[in-house]
Amino acid sequence: MISSLYKKIVGTSPPPEPDVPKILCVGVNCLDIVTVCKEFPLEDSEQRCLEQRWQRGGNASNTCTVLSLLGSSCEFLGSLSSDQHVIFLEDDMRKHKIDFSHCPIIDGVGCPMSTVILSIATGSRTILHFNPNLPELLLKDFEKLNLEDYSWIHFEGRNVSEVICMMQYVESYNNSLNTCQSDDSVKLETNRIPITISVELEKPKPELVDLLPYADVAFIARDFAHSKGFDNMSETLRNIGEEAKSGATIICAWSEWGAMGRTPDSMIVQSPSFPPNQIIDTLGAGDTFNAATLYYLNMVKTSFIKKREEEESHKTKETFEESSETDKKREIKQNTNIESTECSRTEFINANVLQGAINFACHVAGAKIGLRGYDGLEKILRDLYK
Ligand SMILES: Nc1ncnc2c1ncn2[C@@H]1O[C@H](COP(=O)(O)OP(=O)(O)OP(=O)(O)O)[C@@H](O)[C@H]1O
Ligand SMILES: *[C@@H]1O[C@H](CO)[C@@H](O)[C@H](O)[C@H]1NC(C)=O
Ligand SMILES: *[C@@H]1O[C@H](CO)[C@@H](O)[C@H](O)[C@H]1NC(C)=O
Ligand SMILES: *[C@@H]1O[C@H](CO)[C@@H](O)[C@H](O)[C@H]1NC(C)=O
Ligand SMILES: *[C@@H]1O[C@H](CO)[C@@H](O)[C@H](O)[C@H]1NC(C)=O
Repeated sequence: MISSLYKKIVGTSPPPEPDVPKILCVGVNCLDIVTVCKEFPLEDSEQRCLEQRWQRGGNASNTCTVLSLLGSSCEFLGSLSSDQHVIFLEDDMRKHKIDFSHCPIIDGVGCPMSTVILSIATGSRTILHFNPNLPELLLKDFEKLNLEDYSWIHFEGRNVSEVICMMQYVESYNNSLNTCQSDDSVKLETNRIPITISVELEKPKPELVDLLPYADVAFIARDFAHSKGFDNMSETLRNIGEEAKSGATIICAWSEWGAMGRTPDSMIVQSPSFPPNQIIDTLGAGDTFNAATLYYLNMVKTSFIKKREEEESHKTKETFEESSETDKKREIKQNTNIESTECSRTEFINANVLQGAINFACHVAGAKIGLRGYDGLEKILRDLYK
């Protein structure tokens, strides 16, 4: 499936597996106890429910599940409790081929849990979240990673001060690549590529906007948009654009209205939603949408870099002829509202690419909400892209 999807998106055969750098998702792993009811219960009533199951949840953790089902190699990074529930979570990550080898294990604090009520009558998902204060991931945990293994890092917008430190750490890594890339002899030996950073602003906390100056791609969830007083996707993109760094890509999904995105040069693209015949389970629809978008954009990034490297090695052979194609500059205005002078280097995202990405993501999210959990998503995607 990987190869046919890859062909469809990039137009060439995929590179051999070990060459593909990982996507890392940083955030929370939690235990979801999902109860499926005919209808949402009345307070102080009794009802025989249709089904009850344990499921691994948490935004970054769900996003990893879908990335893995799409065929992307991926890793989860977040604190894990050492209590007995973690066995279930770890087994499930193993089953889904999600690497979790860098997660710090915390003794003496239970794992975050959610009780989720799915109503068949309305398709709604009601979430009761409990976190017994499992400590947040810290910069020192993040510093244990070997950043050469990753091409993309996605953050849940959580503890702003710690996440900013991690983003700055990635930034200095990127900068270190620039210096050694000016030396041709070094460059030929490494296939290290600068890391792209994405972030999801989801919780209605105003301080999360402080993460925007470091993000190349920002997902703005409806809860966050509402908390800022924005009523729809276009209003959200317009306003958030002013707080993002120059050349950032902003993406906003809005359940049955589909999704909208703004490219680095401020073009707006839009996709409708693709609902299934029957909506079964919308828990994690947003996480699925994000994963499919990341998968698509990372695929385009990888082949863009490959192509540029090939062009550059051609250029050195054919003397120093100017290539008008690669030097064509797109109009990306400097954002003077924010301190960061760095401009995002996501030149691989143009209107066509972003349109393709959110269309694909709406298809994948639409397929997911017709399923219970994620089982069978792989097969639907295979059929969709045969
Ligand atoms: N009711 C729906 N009908 C059709 N498509 C939907 C519906 N809900 C979600 N989707 C699809 O999922 C994508 C993501 O939606 P959104 O981010 O609003 O999900 P969410 O409800 O926040 O999910 P989560 O459980 O992760 O919070 C949408 O762009 C759309 O493609
Ligand atoms: C994940 O995101 C959804 C909305 O997209 C939110 O309702 C839910 O509480 C989040 N889960 C966690 C564990 O943060
Ligand atoms: C962020 O994490 C640090 C370290 O765990 C903690 O001291 C701080 O209170 C957290 N801040 C927020 C806003 O959660
Ligand atoms: C390097 O990392 C920083 C993190 O702040 C990011 O903003 C920047 O766009 C990255 N560079 C490239 C070339 O991706
Ligand atoms: C979005 O919201 C703004 C502000 O409420 C409104 O002016 C605009 O017409 C809305 N756009 C759409 C497409 O509904």
